[in-house]
Amino acid sequence: MCPAGWKLLAMLALVLVVMVLYSISREDSFYFPIPEKKEPCLQGEAERKASKLFGNYSRDQPIFLQLKDYFWVKTPSAYELPYGTKGSEDLLLRVLAITSSSIPENIQSLRCRRCVVVGNGHRLRNSSLGDAINKYDVVIRLNNAPVAGYEGDVGSKTTMRLFYPESAHFDPKVENNPDTLLVLVAFKAMDFHWIETILSDKKRVRKGFWKQPPLIWDVNPKQIRILNPFFMEIAADKLLSLPMQQPQKIKQKPTTGLLAITLALHLCDLVHIAGFGYPDAYNKKQTIHYYEQITLKSMVGSGHNVSQEALAIKRMLEMGAVKNLTSF
Ligand SMILES: *[C@@H]1O[C@H](CO)[C@@H](O)[C@H](O)[C@H]1NC(C)=O
Ligand SMILES: *[C@@H]1O[C@H](CO)[C@@H](O)[C@H](O)[C@H]1NC(C)=O
Ligand SMILES: *[C@@H]1O[C@H](CO)[C@@H](O)[C@H](O)[C@H]1NC(C)=O
Ligand SMILES: *[C@@H]1O[C@H](CO)[C@@H](O)[C@H](O)[C@H]1NC(C)=O
Repeated sequence: MCPAGWKLLAMLALVLVVMVLYSISREDSFYFPIPEKKEPCLQGEAERKASKLFGNYSRDQPIFLQLKDYFWVKTPSAYELPYGTKGSEDLLLRVLAITSSSIPENIQSLRCRRCVVVGNGHRLRNSSLGDAINKYDVVIRLNNAPVAGYEGDVGSKTTMRLFYPESAHFDPKVENNPDTLLVLVAFKAMDFHWIETILSDKKRVRKGFWKQPPLIWDVNPKQIRILNPFFMEIAADKLLSLPMQQPQKIKQKPTTGLLAITLALHLCDLVHIAGFGYPDAYNKKQTIHYYEQITLKSMVGSGHNVSQEALAIKRMLEMGAVKNLTSF
């Protein structure tokens, strides 16, 4: 080949190399934007891992109870609240008629759902996890845990908040986003009655609660969801091995936190937890929540066995079904 030919060939090779390098660099920055580092998310991973715990349970169970399932009760529930809806169907029908059961489109359409369950534990104090928490697709919070004033440690995004009447925050607008789903966890028929009287502005009933719930509660009915009691059932049965029929006196039940993890393993592809865990039983002075000065003593008589729940969560951590963002 003549020198001019070699030159041309070298030029072509150079152009080719530049093109390849350029396309690689574009792929990184353009086709796969990684502006904020997110955990790799494997579709169906949480379900696969959780099936070892929950057995062959079905993903067909709706997350939220839906009106159409109660027009004609086709398969009546085997259990009463909190594990089923047996005996509460009429009340529930009225509640479902004025609330909603849909999963928001922005969650429904995700190919892989990254979720974080934010517990109320003291370990979140000074954790600076706020920004990390806000990056998840779904942020699940519990009960009346505040966000305002704690954003740096717990974040400000709330996709769902699980609550029951006695644990409802009196000012839901301050502690939630306009589109937060307020997910009612019903323990007793009175809990359906409470939400009905609030939303339909009927005469409030004050009796039947162990702590006075809000009587006026400024929420949009379209934000309210009723959690399927199926999750309470499998949390109690599969995670805590509790008998489904308990004598009135002991009535042990899962905490809202354990329930939320169970729900997340069903709804999400990746489940992280933060702010879980209680101090050791002998540690009587340590506060248990990030926002209030109460100790383990307040859990006495709550029907929760925190050491048994700790074992259940440890098992889930060990098998990789969930990952902890704060030490457990
Ligand atoms: C799991 O459930 C599916 C659908 O209900 C069923 O077809 C399958 O045989 C079950 N597998 C086991 C191992 O029980
Ligand atoms: C959190 O940080 C503040 C300010 O640095 C400090 O005063 C406080 O003791 C810390 N709280 C905990 C629980 O570590
Ligand atoms: C709580 O669970 C632990 C561990 O499973 C058990 O040893 C203990 O007896 C339980 N406590 C109560 C009050 O049931
Ligand atoms: C999560 O828990 C494990 C085991 O309890 C612990 O070794 C690990 O340090 C924890 N992770 C974080 C980020 O604290």
